[in-house]
Parts: sequence; structure tokens; C-alpha cells
Amino acid sequence: MPFTCPKLTPLQSRFVASCAALVLLGLVYWSLSNPHFAYAAELSYDGFEGVGKGEDHNWHRIEQQRLDEDGVDDDDDRVERSQIFTRATAATAISDNNYPNNLNIQPGNTTVWVYSNALLTSPSTQLGPGLPSKLNKDHDVEYGHNELRRRQDSGEPITIYVSINTCLQPVWNGTGVQDAEPPQLSLYVSSNAGNSEVGPTGQNQVVQLLSGGFANISVQASGDWYIAVSAPTLTTGFAGEWNYELAVSHDAYYHSADETYPKLFLVDTDHTSALLVTDNLTEQGSGSTVFQQWMNLSTPFIMFAANVENTAMLGMQNSYCGWTKNAQLTASQDDPGGDQSGIEMGMITRGLGNKPKEQFYVTNLNGSSSYEGVLAMPGNSTKSGAGVVGGGGKVWSPVHWRTKADANCALMFNLTFCDEVAYAVPNNPSKFNTTSAANDAGIDALRFIYDNYTTVNYQFFNYSLQQIACHTTSDARYSTVKTCTDCAAAYKEWLCAVSIPRCVDFSDSSSYLQARNMGQTFVNGSMLSSDLLNAPYTPMSRAPTLEGTPAYSQTYLSSIATNSSRNSIIDTLIEPGPYKELLPCEDLCYSLVQSCPAALGFGCPHPGRGLEAGYGKRDPNGTSLTCSYLGAVYDFNAGSTVFAPVFEAATIAALVALVLGLA
Ligand SMILES: *[C@@H]1O[C@H](CO)[C@@H](O)[C@H](O)[C@H]1NC(C)=O
Ligand SMILES: *[C@@H]1O[C@H](CO)[C@@H](O)[C@H](O)[C@H]1NC(C)=O
Ligand SMILES: *[C@@H]1O[C@H](CO)[C@@H](O)[C@H](O)[C@H]1NC(C)=O
Ligand SMILES: *[C@@H]1O[C@H](CO)[C@@H](O)[C@H](O)[C@H]1NC(C)=O
Ligand SMILES: *[C@@H]1O[C@H](CO)[C@@H](O)[C@H](O)[C@H]1NC(C)=O
Ligand SMILES: *[C@@H]1O[C@H](CO)[C@@H](O)[C@H](O)[C@H]1NC(C)=O
Ligand SMILES: *[C@@H]1O[C@H](CO)[C@@H](O)[C@H](O)[C@H]1NC(C)=O
Ligand SMILES: *[C@@H]1O[C@H](CO)[C@@H](O)[C@H](O)[C@H]1NC(C)=O
Ligand SMILES: *[C@@H]1O[C@H](CO)[C@@H](O)[C@H](O)[C@H]1NC(C)=O
Ligand SMILES: *[C@@H]1O[C@H](CO)[C@@H](O)[C@H](O)[C@H]1NC(C)=O
Ligand SMILES: *[C@@H]1O[C@H](CO)[C@@H](O)[C@H](O)[C@H]1NC(C)=O
Ligand SMILES: *[C@@H]1O[C@H](CO)[C@@H](O)[C@H](O)[C@H]1NC(C)=O
Repeated sequence: MPFTCPKLTPLQSRFVASCAALVLLGLVYWSLSNPHFAYAAELSYDGFEGVGKGEDHNWHRIEQQRLDEDGVDDDDDRVERSQIFTRATAATAISDNNYPNNLNIQPGNTTVWVYSNALLTSPSTQLGPGLPSKLNKDHDVEYGHNELRRRQDSGEPITIYVSINTCLQPVWNGTGVQDAEPPQLSLYVSSNAGNSEVGPTGQNQVVQLLSGGFANISVQASGDWYIAVSAPTLTTGFAGEWNYELAVSHDAYYHSADETYPKLFLVDTDHTSALLVTDNLTEQGSGSTVFQQWMNLSTPFIMFAANVENTAMLGMQNSYCGWTKNAQLTASQDDPGGDQSGIEMGMITRGLGNKPKEQFYVTNLNGSSSYEGVLAMPGNSTKSGAGVVGGGGKVWSPVHWRTKADANCALMFNLTFCDEVAYAVPNNPSKFNTTSAANDAGIDALRFIYDNYTTVNYQFFNYSLQQIACHTTSDARYSTVKTCTDCAAAYKEWLCAVSIPRCVDFSDSSSYLQARNMGQTFVNGSMLSSDLLNAPYTPMSRAPTLEGTPAYSQTYLSSIATNSSRNSIIDTLIEPGPYKELLPCEDLCYSLVQSCPAALGFGCPHPGRGLEAGYGKRDPNGTSLTCSYLGAVYDFNAGSTVFAPVFEAATIAALVALVLGLA
């Protein structure tokens, strides 16, 4: 989220200079010491660690390269090397196909690489099946057309895939909060054979400025092919160098990034955690093999995340390597329970459509804080690292979320009866400590209260439903279109949504939220002011009574809608204090009435006569979550609105105005 100073009139322009300093007023200092930078030198050899996982002949090439660098002669590959070094002594050889060539680069420098004809014409790697199905909505990399390519000496052009990831970048050493990302590297790929004149002063080349630490270029190559990576000079406020991973392959891109689609959705947050899910990994039904294969996988994807105040990733969001070196939080396939990483992951079918998804439960977060996270795929999904086609991994575009300010909403999922519930519910953290994933006793006890309440109430409904002629011929049924199965499903969804309210910070001023328990004490012991509590509140704008009568003389304190929870076990067993409720969607109630026999006597409140305090309306634009339904996720747009960027233009404008006022 790069920060730019607001545009000012000439009169105000004298304040521009102090704009960066102004940011200090409201924002947190960024630490001057960044330990990552110190690792840069060691990282040059980092790629070699992965070699053991790849093909053995990589070792040979690395050794070869080291011998070359040490000036030691070796008979092997003599011809190949002489070709390279007579053409351009300054060029470094690309080690192998599908191999991360890792190097540090200083500001203003250019490194020239050569991808030899020997590598170009070497046999291509046969690809296996990979994931059970293609990732939908995904701008997937087209794998190389192996069959079109022919080997040695044919001289026919072959498609090569050049990709780069920034792994480390210059760090902010300016004064105040980092207000921009460091400048990006540039990738140059020659457009004809043997052209070593590549780079900022070169010709006949394709160039791409890296975006978020990532770039990819694909060209038709033959013979020796030159590639350059160039570092810009540093802009004010930054110091240090870059470290990058450059890979060339005639099979497919080694690194990938989807810069537009997040493939990851926020379900909800609480004070210390966030719950996220991928999109549907297949649209096939639960009986299909593909569905079963997805569910058989443990954790095909991982995720990375960072507090937005941690600016280490600013400028490297599209780089898998960047995230692995700099992410504050990293999910690990070796630790799916999240004991070490704090991110628990697993395959689920919860949510609309009940399709396979991967879920991420991110814990140990700070309250009232904004985070950025990305979904990532290690390697090509089955293998990763050097020697693997697509071994450099893939990242999708970032998703943002903000944790809740108050501790009296607790994320709850994994319920036994209301198994589709996955959102924050009213809680009292001094009674049920749910602040960490390890604290299972607290959340289990809270879960039991809600589970028991809904199970018991469903039993009563079940007894009633059994009195209705459900399983008779269609003329005798209560409806020709609805069955008792429909009624039971509608009842369950409605019961879960109304019995387990969706909890939001009391301080959230969104108009569609309903305040509850206003007269009770907050978890910290404080209370709302008596001025607010005694202010008039009209829950039913169309009540059939005249003004001045009880319906029109209520206060926040005296109204049941604002001074209690919608179900009494919450106030007796949990005592969460004041909170706001994201009301169940009114269509859940209408669906119940339409699906069930009239004999059961279900009805919904009327507009102006209680509907507003009990049910919410869906956002007509479909972009925000304005009422609660089971399986709801924040979509990409709504997810962004949850996120309050640190460098918000309005904040800066307010600060400028403040200073103008003082001046
Ligand atoms: C990189 O640039 C520095 C100065 O910024 C220079 O001293 C150094 O020789 C350059 N390195 C290469 C390999 O060109
Ligand atoms: C991943 O790479 C390995 C090794 O190169 C290969 O066997 C496998 O087929 C690849 N998987 C996909 C989905 O490309
Ligand atoms: C680069 O990668 C992106 C996403 O991985 C892809 O959409 C795009 O087509 C690639 N660019 C080229 C030149 O192949
Ligand atoms: C930041 O780094 C640059 C380059 O190393 C240096 O010239 C400058 O003095 C540093 N600024 C601060 C405030 O340390
Ligand atoms: C899923 O895993 C089970 C147990 O390992 C296995 O029996 C079954 O065949 C797998 N199903 C599919 C579709 O791969
Ligand atoms: C998953 O699929 C269902 C329908 O099968 C759809 O309603 C839902 O929106 C999809 N979820 C996502 C996150 O794409
Ligand atoms: C939580 O806040 C502390 C203090 O500001 C900070 O050092 C830490 O990195 C933050 N942790 C997370 C996960 O945001
Ligand atoms: C207690 O918590 C409420 C809600 O988070 C907050 O508005 C209030 O300022 C807090 N009071 C004190 C004394 O910390
Ligand atoms: C949720 O349930 C799954 C499967 O039963 C279990 O693996 C996971 O640990 C549970 N997660 C939490 C946070 O309780
Ligand atoms: C379960 O809920 C019912 C109805 O609310 C209540 O009567 C019963 O005591 C609860 N059971 C337990 C074990 O709490
Ligand atoms: C109602 O209860 C009976 C007996 O416990 C059970 O067989 C039936 O499936 C239940 N009906 C519904 C709709 O859950
Ligand atoms: C829906 O869109 C309209 C017009 O863009 C806007 O005025 C309104 O605030 C939006 N509603 C919600 C709930 O976002």
C-alpha cells in the first residue's frame, strides 16, 4: 500500500516537505534494524540446499561452476564452456533447467546470464498428474508443448520460460515510517540468439520491470540465449542490495504468481485469530473421484501472512521466495496442526455447496491490527525446489483482514450440530479463555453451550415435525413442492443462525448492526455512559401505538432489543457484556415459513414491527456482508473493506488539516 502525499494547493505546498514527518504523528515507528538484510550474503548459496531434492546432475553443474570460479580446470563440458566464455566473458551460466540461480545484486549493477544451447536442447521433463483437478478461476501456467520441441541440432526454436523472484531487497533506513516500497529490479531477455547486449543499454530484447518482486518472460529461443537482471539506483530512504532467484526452463515457468485473484477468502476474525478458506477446489459432487482425491490430500496449499506494519514484504507480495524469507507468519506442511507456526490447516467441506476447500486458522494475532496474507503453493504441488518443473512455487494475490478490537467475540467452528457455523460468537474471555488454539478447554466449553442449546431445540422441532404427514403420497403432503426434508433443513439453518449470534465489536458503527447488552459491563469492567444508555431508542418505527406511548418512549437501556441477547443462555451462561450482532438474513426466516407446514405455526416479524431488530437484509450490491447466513465468506471486495490501511489518505489529510489549524 504505497503512501503518497496528498495533492495540495500552491499555498499549502510548503507542507509537502513536512508530510513525511507528519505521518509520524499518527503512525507507528518502523524499526531501523532489519535482521533479514544481514543474511543477504549467505543467501547466495541458499539455492544449493534444495539441490538434494532435485536431480543428481545438478550437483555436478554446481561443482562445475565452483571449479570454474576457482580457476580449476576440468575436462567435462569444455566445449560448452568455451562457447559461453568466448561470446561474453561477463555472463554467468544458468546452472540448469528448472533451477533457482540465486545472486545478490547491488544498486545500479547489471548481471548478464547465458542459457546455453546445451540446456536448451537437453531432454524435457515428463510431467505427472499433479493436483486432482485444474485450479479453477486460475490463470494457470500453460505447460510446455513437449511434443512440438525436438532435440539436439534440429535448430528449431524452442519456447523458454524465464521467471524471477526477489528474495531480499533494500531496507528502509529513512526517517519515520516507510512510505513506499523499494524500487524493483528489471528482467531483460534477448529476442535473438547470441545477443549478449542485454540490459539497460542493450538492444533486441524483451524487458519487464518486476511487479511485487516477480516477472516472467517467455520467448522462442535457439542457440545460446542471453538474459540480464538489472538493479536500479536506490531512492531516498533505502539502503542495501537485492537478492534474487532467476530460473530458465524449456518445460514451464519455475515461479508463478497470480496478481489478480486471491483464491483465499476471509471467513471471520476475532481479537487474536482469523479463519480463512480457499475457494471451491472442485465443483464436482461428493460421489466423484476428484472430490475424494482432493479430500484425501492433507494440505496442498500453505499461506503466508504479515502485520501490515511489518513492511518487510512491501514490494515482494508476488514473490514466493520473498515470502519464504520475510513472512512474519508461515504455515508449514510439516506442521499442519500449527503447533509451531500458529497456522492450523486442513481440508474441509463446510460452506456453500459443501465442496472441498482448504481452511487456515491463523492464531496468535494482535487485536485491532491489520494483516495481509497470501495463499501459496509450494513447488508444483507435488514436489518443490531445484530440478522440479515449477519447483519455485506459486503465490496468489493478497487478502487483507483486521482483527477485532474487543475480546468478547470469539471465533467458533467445528460444532457438532451446527456444523456450518464458522464465525465469531459472543463470549466472555474471563469465563471461557479462547485466546489461543492450544487453549482447547475454553473453546470446547463455549462450543458445548451453543451445541447443547441447538441440539435440544432441534429435538423439540423434530417431535413436532413427526406429527405432520410427511412421508405420505404427494396428494396428502402439506405441499407439492416442499417436503419435510426441506422443512428440516430450513429449520436447522434458521435455528443455528438465530441461536448462535454473529458477534462484532461494539465500536463498529455500521448501520446494519444491532447493539446488544448495552446496560451490562464490558469485559474490562467499564460501562457505557448513562447519557448514551438513556438516549431514546425506537425499535419499532411502525408500532400501532401513538407517540408518547411505551413503544415510543424506550431507551437503549429499557429496550429488550438493545439490552439483552437474542437468546437468554448467552446472558445467563456466558455474560459477554455489550456487543453488536450481525443479524441473521431475513430470507432465512422467509425460507423457513415457506418450507414448513403451516401447522407448525412459523411466522416472521413485519417491517417496522420487530423485523429490523431481529433480521438483516443482504447487500443489494453483493459486495459486503450485511447480514449473517451459514457459509458466508467475505468476498474479495468486502475483504478489502474490512481492512483499514495504515497509510490512509483521509488520515493524512486530517493530520495536514490539524497542522494547518495549528499553524
Ligand atoms: C556493483 O556496483 C558497485 C558500486 O555500486 C561496484 O563497486 C561493483 O564493482 C559492481 N559489481 C559488479 C559485479 O559490477
Ligand atoms: C512436479 O515436479 C515433479 C518433478 O519434476 C514431476 O514429476 C511432477 O509431475 C510435477 N507435477 C506437476 C503437477 O507438474
Ligand atoms: C506470466 O505469468 C502470469 C501468471 O502466472 C501469466 O498470466 C502470464 O501469461 C505470464 N506471462 C508470460 C509472458 O507468459
Ligand atoms: C541510509 O543508507 C544510505 C546508503 O547506505 C546512507 O548513505 C545513509 O546515510 C543512510 N541513512 C541513514 C539515516 O542512516
Ligand atoms: C483416499 O484415501 C483412501 C485411504 O488412503 C483410499 O483407500 C482411497 O482409495 C482414496 N481415494 C481416492 C479417490 O484416491
Ligand atoms: C462454492 O460453490 C458453491 C456452489 O456450488 C457456491 O455457492 C459458492 O459461492 C462457491 N464458493 C466459493 C468461495 O467460490
Ligand atoms: C504484535 O505486536 C507486537 C508489538 O507491537 C509486535 O512486535 C508483533 O510483531 C505483533 N505480532 C503480530 C503477529 O502482529
Ligand atoms: C473497556 O472496553 C471498551 C470496549 O472495548 C472500551 O470502549 C473502553 O474504552 C474500555 N475501558 C477501559 C477503561 O479500558
Ligand atoms: C476442527 O476439527 C478438525 C477435524 O475434526 C480437527 O482436525 C481440528 O483440529 C479442529 N480444529 C479446531 C480448532 O478445533
Ligand atoms: C442443554 O440445554 C437444555 C436447554 O437449554 C438445558 O435444559 C440443559 O440443562 C442443557 N444441558 C447441559 C448439560 O447443560
Ligand atoms: C428426528 O428424530 C428421529 C429419531 O431420533 C430421527 O430418526 C430423525 O432422523 C430425526 N429427524 C430429523 C429431520 O432430523
Ligand atoms: C451499493 O452501491 C451503491 C452505489 O454504488 C452505494 O451507494 C451503496 O452504499 C452500496 N451499498 C452497500 C451496502 O455497500
